[in-house]
Amino acid sequence: MRTYNSSAAIQSTLAAFRARGQRIAFVPTMGNLHEGHLDLVRKAQRLCDVVVVSIFVNPLQFGPHEDLDAYPRTLAADKEKLFAEGVQVLFAPGVKEIYPQGMAAQSIVHVPDLGDTLCGRSRPGHFDGVTTVVSKLFNIVQPDVAVFGEKDFQQLSIIRKMVIDLCMPIDIVGVVTTREADGLAKSSRNGYLTKEQRAVAPLLNQVLRDCREAIACGFDNFLQLESHARMQLLQAGFDPDYFEIRDAHTLSTVSEDTEEVAILAAARLGKTRLIDNVRLALNPVSDWVMLAGI
Ligand code: PAF
Repeated sequence: MRTYNSSAAIQSTLAAFRARGQRIAFVPTMGNLHEGHLDLVRKAQRLCDVVVVSIFVNPLQFGPHEDLDAYPRTLAADKEKLFAEGVQVLFAPGVKEIYPQGMAAQSIVHVPDLGDTLCGRSRPGHFDGVTTVVSKLFNIVQPDVAVFGEKDFQQLSIIRKMVIDLCMPIDIVGVVTTREADGLAKSSRNGYLTKEQRAVAPLLNQVLRDCREAIACGFDNFLQLESHARMQLLQAGFDPDYFEIRDAHTLSTVSEDTEEVAILAAARLGKTRLIDNVRLALNPVSDWVMLAGI
């Protein structure tokens, strides 16, 4: 596995792959790799000849009181995992390489609407940080395909919109969330949980699945479902940020045009902010009839 810290060096290696007609798949990460990231890598390997992984803890996407300093940095262990998976190229730049003029001087990529709701409301500037760094990484790597996890469903939706809006010739591929045996979505932040919090954490996914089940069974009062779910989370010791039933394609409220719903939640357990989501495809005729209560 070749590891690069400099954009110029990785670009000349990737140009040689491209000249040989090899297709490049890209998996951007912030490191502290777990099975969820490795599933993204495996998907990337199935899609292209060459897989490039980046590891960069992007300060631009952390708010002033968030966990930038505490975020786990485990480069040596991450490299071993990527090597064992057969990844050919790792890009692990420093902050100066990505933001040579400093972050305040950086041009920002902003995706309106999709980026302003849900996590965007409680983490102002977060998605601008994500889209800005992902754009820069896309321009450096110039992949044919980029692979992201569905756990960060809003992030995935925003990146899909960004590549369309900015005419970036990159296929964005989403990969189903990798979970622990008890349903908890794998996340680098799960490591912050105490033993007691870890025991409670899978309830977030359980409440999401119960809500999906209720909708699938024809329960159509979404406000009631959302507030019941928030109450269940509160009672279990979570501090819910949001629990929302949305149109999976627009992330706006469900309408008669909705073909698929996404149920998305973010909640704190102690100092740890957990997010998760589930989706439900609506049969255009019969399910919508159920939803509308007709
Ligand atoms: O999902 C992440 O790990 C990050 O938001 C990403 C896409 C690597 C950008 O820093």
